[in-house]
Amino acid sequence: MSASAQALRCLKVQEYPSLIKYMGSKSKIMGFVVEGINRVRDDRPICDLFSGSGSLSGAIGQQATVVSNDIQAYSGLLADTYNRAYREKSTPHADHLLHLAGEILRNRKPKLTGNYSRDLSLNAFNEEEERQRALIDQDFDYEWHIFAKNYSGTWWSYEQCLWIDALREVAEAYKCAPIYPAIMSSLMFAMAYASQGTGHYAQYRDAKTNSSYRDILIYRKRSIAHYFQRKYNDILDYVPKKPVIYDHRSTALDFKDCLQKFEGGTVYADPPYCFVHYSRFYHALETLVLYDFPKLQLQKGKIVKGRYRENRHQSPFCIQSQVRGAFQDLFEGVKNSNSSLVLSYSNTGMISLNELLDICKSVLSKRNIEVLTTDHEHMTMGRKEDRQRSVKEGLLLAYV
Ligand SMILES: C[S@@+](CC[C@H](N)C(=O)[O-])C[C@H]1O[C@@H](n2cnc3c(N)ncnc32)[C@H](O)[C@@H]1O
Repeated sequence: MSASAQALRCLKVQEYPSLIKYMGSKSKIMGFVVEGINRVRDDRPICDLFSGSGSLSGAIGQQATVVSNDIQAYSGLLADTYNRAYREKSTPHADHLLHLAGEILRNRKPKLTGNYSRDLSLNAFNEEEERQRALIDQDFDYEWHIFAKNYSGTWWSYEQCLWIDALREVAEAYKCAPIYPAIMSSLMFAMAYASQGTGHYAQYRDAKTNSSYRDILIYRKRSIAHYFQRKYNDILDYVPKKPVIYDHRSTALDFKDCLQKFEGGTVYADPPYCFVHYSRFYHALETLVLYDFPKLQLQKGKIVKGRYRENRHQSPFCIQSQVRGAFQDLFEGVKNSNSSLVLSYSNTGMISLNELLDICKSVLSKRNIEVLTTDHEHMTMGRKEDRQRSVKEGLLLAYV
């Protein structure tokens, strides 16, 4: 343990509401992560360099300053919900937000009228879904329509997409309010629980059999408004009634740029550990947040089934030929910002622990280097039995 860490009060994992389902989230081993941070930290800020679902901010944000960073913009809003959002007199209740969204919807002429309360056959259901997916070729005469146009009949139904767009439009009116991150996080939560997919947005499921049709139908009947309201009320109970005292920040930078700007402290690094890109799994959240009418990825001239954003971020940590260089850059950035490091790794990773240690030692030669491990059940986000498989999680610590 570093000498400066011994002199500081230990951070404890505080309770925080869960906001989205996230692949590789450390929420289940947060006690272990915070134990690692306690061993090395000093009184300077903690940089959550790959913050994802923002779980570290939720766990310690009321006890220390957190600089939260992730290349994906939605992550900053999740961290801000934990760390920077607060209530004021003018903060709207859920009922009011839903009323505003309902008004928007009442003033829109629907493009389709089908609903799922009728008893449809499998074929009729698939025809209805196809009609919804075809909306991507139509023009819309109002601005807030990305989800209705691009995602009807995919992870969500047309009706659910109308609600997503309308609540996103309502959120925009609160963009400068301290509760904005909470509104957006509640919408991300509602999207996750109403989605017919398996917890991410890489592929939606096809209704190939009666049994998969029945399962998809469960999600098609879920109300975005209901899930939004539930989470927003949870968050209102959780956030403080006055501005937060810590100087928390959130950024959407590449890790190298973030380390260059970081004033120094403790870096918690939880980079992607396998070849799948987060930008593909969570593209819909990125589009919700940016609402930037992205071009969609084409293959042989056709929009790909997953309707991903074109030019998604390709992380070097997910590319076999780049992963070593990426860790080298990470260690260099930690060294140059004069920080301590707590690095999460898993033995399913793209690189072995031994190799990682060699790179670490070559760059951070003057530091104490320690490895902590624990066994924990890893989430792979499938619906099958292999969903939980045993993976050794570890922390590599480097400190003065
Ligand atoms: C394993 S997840 C982090 C999970 C997070 N610790 C949690 O508990 O939710 C890895 C994150 O790294 C981000 N990422 C990938 N490449 C990045 C890069 N070059 N710079 C910054 N963030 C990156 C991904 O968007 C993803 O959210």
